[in-house]
Amino acid sequence: MSYRIAVLCSGRGSNLQALLDAIASERLPAQIVGVFSDRAAAPALQRARDAGLPANALRPRDFAHRLAFDEALFTQIDAVQPDLIVCAGYMRLVSEREVDARRGRMINIHPSLLPAFKGLHTHDQALAAGAIVHGASVHFVSAELDGGPVIAQARVPVHADDDAQALTARVLVREHPLLVESVRLLALGRVVLSSAGILLDGVLMQTPLQLDAAGQLRVPEAA
Ligand code: GRF
Repeated sequence: MSYRIAVLCSGRGSNLQALLDAIASERLPAQIVGVFSDRAAAPALQRARDAGLPANALRPRDFAHRLAFDEALFTQIDAVQPDLIVCAGYMRLVSEREVDARRGRMINIHPSLLPAFKGLHTHDQALAAGAIVHGASVHFVSAELDGGPVIAQARVPVHADDDAQALTARVLVREHPLLVESVRLLALGRVVLSSAGILLDGVLMQTPLQLDAAGQLRVPEAA
């Protein structure tokens, strides 16, 4: 039976599109069974509809508090029976109760080399800190913001004349293969979250996998 993915998005949806394209070209053995958003106008939802997928939006302001919103959202998500939930540009914190109930089954893509630069405006943070290397991370979601175990990273150089826009674009093109390849390892059952940490092919990972120039995930040399 095919591996079932639910995707949460708040905006543009280019990472969702990367997953859709990889599935369509049979590079990713999976199916997307639902796309969910906290913003009805998110372009990501239109990408889902264009692909013939269910696109669902719930408005946070229709709910009394975060817990009620998340309960309604995750009730909808559970109804499509996902094996994996991918937060791809989902801009809301997920409540601890929902996160804890889905440990090892929910991932997020974050535009920095975690643990550096959590939260928002990561490219500005990297430039302000004078970083010479920046990038993106795919990690299991935990109750701590951008704090769960990191599966894989893509590194990009920061150029001396970079502004946030240039750096954002350089990172984004690497996010797409990073997410697709990370999801592929999960779909194949090669990456699993255990109580000890992340297992790759049954072996505890010491450091995150790294995306190479060819867009493949590699075990770091030093590991
Ligand atoms: C990406 O940079 C992702 O890392 C961050 O939000 C952005 C979403 O972009 N969490 P998109 O909606 O996938 O185009």
